[in-house]
Amino acid sequence: AKTVSYDWEITWVNAAPDGFERPVIGINGQWPCPTIEASVGDYIKVNMKNSLGNQTTGLHFHGINQINTNYFDGASMVNQCPVPPGQSLTYTFIADVPGTYWYHSHNMGQYPDGFRGPLIIHDPNDPYHGHYDEEVILTISDWYHSQTIPLVQAMLSPNNTQFRPPIPDNIIVNEGQTSNIQFDIGKTYRVRILNFAALGSAMLHFDSHTMSVIQIDASYVQKQEVYQLRIAPAERYDVLISGIDRDQGRNYPFLVSLDINKDFQVNPQWPHNVTGYLITDSKLAIDSVDVVDVWLPFDDAHFVPYDNQPALGPVTKYWELDFDFGLDANGYPRAFFNGKTYITQNVPTLYTAATVENNTNPAIYGEVLPFFAEYGDIVQIVINNVDSAIHPFHLHGHTFQVLDRPQSGAGKWSGSDGGANLTPPKRDVISVNGNSFAVLRFVANNPGIFLFHCHIEWHVEMGLTATLIEAPEKLKNYPIPRDMLDSCSAQGIPTAGNA
Ligand code: C2O
Repeated sequence: AKTVSYDWEITWVNAAPDGFERPVIGINGQWPCPTIEASVGDYIKVNMKNSLGNQTTGLHFHGINQINTNYFDGASMVNQCPVPPGQSLTYTFIADVPGTYWYHSHNMGQYPDGFRGPLIIHDPNDPYHGHYDEEVILTISDWYHSQTIPLVQAMLSPNNTQFRPPIPDNIIVNEGQTSNIQFDIGKTYRVRILNFAALGSAMLHFDSHTMSVIQIDASYVQKQEVYQLRIAPAERYDVLISGIDRDQGRNYPFLVSLDINKDFQVNPQWPHNVTGYLITDSKLAIDSVDVVDVWLPFDDAHFVPYDNQPALGPVTKYWELDFDFGLDANGYPRAFFNGKTYITQNVPTLYTAATVENNTNPAIYGEVLPFFAEYGDIVQIVINNVDSAIHPFHLHGHTFQVLDRPQSGAGKWSGSDGGANLTPPKRDVISVNGNSFAVLRFVANNPGIFLFHCHIEWHVEMGLTATLIEAPEKLKNYPIPRDMLDSCSAQGIPTAGNA
């Protein structure tokens, strides 16, 4: 094992991924942001200096469980204070589980401003070793011409009584670099697909090629052939694509579309149908795009985990969360989990959970909806989506099993596990269909504070977030690094005795 180190200075730079130039958040003067790459067992060290000048910042490593390093989970005012301009912070954690991940700011909606990149942990014991010849990364994202802060301000204004999120101006592939994949028809490619979107799910279709899915988020699955995928914000799919006879002498398009987040309809007002190409011979013309009239993406609740692990049980903790949108007491649009909207905490939740028995006093710590788990609990989360759109939920710190995730209109969970999947797929993001539900399970074996939230970034800003406080007794005297406490004290944020 080695340590892979990155020295990053975070600044605003100008970029024009779709031809429209705007300020974006870049690293060392560059945008797109670089890829972090490591192998299982390595340590990843990121020394980050905030040179944005006008904003605080931070980094979250999406899908990394941060076992014993919960203070590096990166959510502002949950695991750390945001790093003020001019200060630095070093994140160090182990690359323990192989897979396709990403990193992004978890502060002030900064990832739609460009502060995100892939994080790949290579597997020396890859069960699909030998099934592919090369690997490539394909990132997809919706894209906005305005910066996040004014978009959030407009969204949270009292006249937004329909709770509408900002509508993207465009869709970009590989952050607007190239959307071509050099494709040797004699070879098989492992394509690591990531959706960095703030709102839109990506619909993906490779002309007459099927995709063999081998991994979802960072969990291997039994190889599954699919024609189309719907990739929700923050989800990752690793697929194998091979040349076929008809590829000889042709360059194939593939189609990426944004769905309006409601049963796979393409809204004519939305940007859609960006194409990429599988280039077999750059001297040849490229085929025209095939029109996809019907999207029937594979139902991702039906993947089978590679290890065939059965559903966890018996459950020792049941949580049922209903969510919806509404106006708060002052007439502002918010999202609610069991009637509570998430309000940014005054002290990072980890610091208070580590030092006091009861950190739920809203007068001191701000309002929060905490769920407590004891070490070793088998937790079942039921999410009831009372809204009519699809919402992608992400849990920090855990890979969960998806026991059930019925189609739209199924209503709330009935209280029975009748339809439950016996070998449920494992992942860290799950799309919950409109007016429907999902049933998830995980083992509470990672002491720390973890957010559970909709990964539509606009809905995070509306408060569609709950907090998991896991084994708080093991967080006493937690060794919070000095530079993290310095970030807090520079802003006058108390650290509840950790300093
Ligand atoms: Cu990808 Cu809470 O984050």
